Amino acid sequence: MAYTITLIPGDGIGPEVAAAAVRVLSATGLQFEWETQHAGLQALATHGSALPEAVLTSIRRNKVALKGPTETPVGSGHRSINVALRKELDLYANVRPVETLHGVKSRYDGVDLIIVRENTEDLYSGLEHVVVPGVVESIKIITEKASTRIARYAFEYARTHGRKRVTAVHKANIMKLSDGLFLDCARGVAKDYPEIRYDEIIVDNCCMQLVLDPTRFDMLLLENLYGDIVSDLCAGFIGGLGMAPGANIGEYGAIFEAVHGSAPDIAGKNMANPIALVLSAAMMLDHLGEHAAADRVRGGVDAVLKGGTKLTRDLGGKAGTTEIAEAIAAAM
Ligand code: NAI
Repeated sequence: MAYTITLIPGDGIGPEVAAAAVRVLSATGLQFEWETQHAGLQALATHGSALPEAVLTSIRRNKVALKGPTETPVGSGHRSINVALRKELDLYANVRPVETLHGVKSRYDGVDLIIVRENTEDLYSGLEHVVVPGVVESIKIITEKASTRIARYAFEYARTHGRKRVTAVHKANIMKLSDGLFLDCARGVAKDYPEIRYDEIIVDNCCMQLVLDPTRFDMLLLENLYGDIVSDLCAGFIGGLGMAPGANIGEYGAIFEAVHGSAPDIAGKNMANPIALVLSAAMMLDHLGEHAAADRVRGGVDAVLKGGTKLTRDLGGKAGTTEIAEAIAAAM
């Protein structure tokens, strides 16, 4: 059977890392039919829209997408394509594993964290307006429905993946109503999972504790903005953004993409590390129930990292994106 998957190469390094991930997946022996769709700045130029309707239709039909990063200009004018995609498709759970892999130079060892980030609301609702010239308002939306749903997702994940502890990260000392509601929902859900330890930490202290010793934590449950920031922080523990995979999961579909952005500074130079997207693709295989193939992909990545001769520049090597992808495929 062939899997039909929507492929969004995206902007910047996106097409390079997407091609690398497709190459690695071809070595699994599974059959994929890639339905390539364009979103992002490039799509704006060629299709007149940064998120053409055809992209949403394709993902709704196939239920699964592999996505490269898309660029969102800073400042006014463009709504983030990612925020739009996640909201349109109700991909409410952003799951980002952070795991030390052998052979990667880092000051930290033995990191094994799961970040579960609420993906549809908070300050990312895009509700901003000018009250009077010189004063703007940005609205943070936290709902009981979304907070309960993401907490349940985190605890279910913990239960099915043998995790022992979920830590809710918040700033309820200041945002008493919004973050207070988020915590109330998490506490309520935690009662249904007595075998999993539940605790809470204020986000600034969490960052400090993480930098001191990330192995203190097991799973982090966060609202959208804290989750975004803490994800990049945590990527720094495992060799950087080139190593950090992710998934956006909803009831009706899922998009697999790395934590990193379009990296315009290295785009088009065959310098990007594709491992983050390759590991996102392994998460996609798990989602499809193809666990053996997912393990083979992760095994290929492990072998190349241990080998140490085909590493990209961010990992201290000299190999290009295409070279490391070939090496991973060969090692599988
Ligand atoms: P970025 O993640 O693109 O880059 C930050 C730094 O990490 C850069 O020095 C870059 O070279 C490096 N880097 C990132 N990925 C790498 C990889 N695979 N291999 C080696 N080095 C890598 O973040 P930045 O510069 O803040 O954002 C650039 C654009 O990406 C913005 O337009 C932003 O909106 C967009 N973005 C898109 C995301 C998505 O589509 N999921 C996520 C984050 C940002």
